[in-house]
Amino acid sequence: MNVARKGIILAGGSGTRLYPITQGISKQLLPIFDKPMIYYPISVLMLTGIREIAIITTPDDADQFRRSLGDGSHWGLSFTWIVQERPEGLAQAYLLAEDFLDGAASTMVLGDNIFFGHDLPIVLGNAAAKGQGGTVFGYRVVDPERYGVVDFDSDGRVKSIIEKPKVPPSKYAVTGLYFLDETASERAKSVTKSARGELEIVTLLNMYLADGQLDVAPMGRGFAWLDTGTHGSLLDAGNFVRTLSERQGQQVGCPEEIAFSKGWIDRDALRALGEKFAKNSYGQYILGLLKD
Ligand code: DAU
Repeated sequence: MNVARKGIILAGGSGTRLYPITQGISKQLLPIFDKPMIYYPISVLMLTGIREIAIITTPDDADQFRRSLGDGSHWGLSFTWIVQERPEGLAQAYLLAEDFLDGAASTMVLGDNIFFGHDLPIVLGNAAAKGQGGTVFGYRVVDPERYGVVDFDSDGRVKSIIEKPKVPPSKYAVTGLYFLDETASERAKSVTKSARGELEIVTLLNMYLADGQLDVAPMGRGFAWLDTGTHGSLLDAGNFVRTLSERQGQQVGCPEEIAFSKGWIDRDALRALGEKFAKNSYGQYILGLLKD
């Protein structure tokens, strides 16, 4: 039986790099211009065609997330809430989500990763169409040492992925978007903690790689993969979204719009969502979709 791919959003973590802002609120609920940060990764999963999503949060932030996002049904989605007691690494998500996945392949996106690009739905669709193995994306950055970095051999084949190397073997960072097959949770059980005490996602990815089962697809210069990890980059991401959406009169990362375009919610449901925010441009945009 072919079970539909499910989504995971990893939205826990301590957020210490954004203190004092994140002392009282989760990083992934901070605004990126006109909407909470987590709307963007949710939109990525929706564009992939995924409707069943597990959202992993800290124990402290769980209530705030539920209040903000509900059960997902207003967007034609179904949210399952999972608590991660301590931030013990990205690969732990596959252990925590094992019951939720229940044998399905998954797409995991980090709650603080923002993607934008004209062909994004095509890129996502290609990765989702792959049966066995996994796909991650390599994106050229000026500061690869802050990320998981792709190490290529002399023929341009991927040898391994290294977490935050002091001397990066390439400029290609692995983005926080992981398409993995149904073996991810089982494989994650043999990931052991790294020197910094985390179950590293790169360890899991290197297992797939060792089996010849991982594609590292290039995400080219026509795409934006935005950083939200510092005070400055958080503001830059908001300004980027504002510039694009105000210039084009089109939203970036609007779950209401995607749900409607996919036929997951009808006109009446869209109108009700828009009327909730009718006093601002976000709500007016949603209501405007009814006229297009
Ligand atoms: O953004 C892409 C990068 O994300 C990858 O290139 C790296 O390979 C990967 O390790 C990760 O690096 P970061 O340094 O950005 O990871 P960070 O600890 O900041 O966590 C990323 C997000 O995941 C953040 O929003 C918090 C959340 N998180 C993190 C950990 C470790 C959790 O929810 N639980 C956790 O246990």
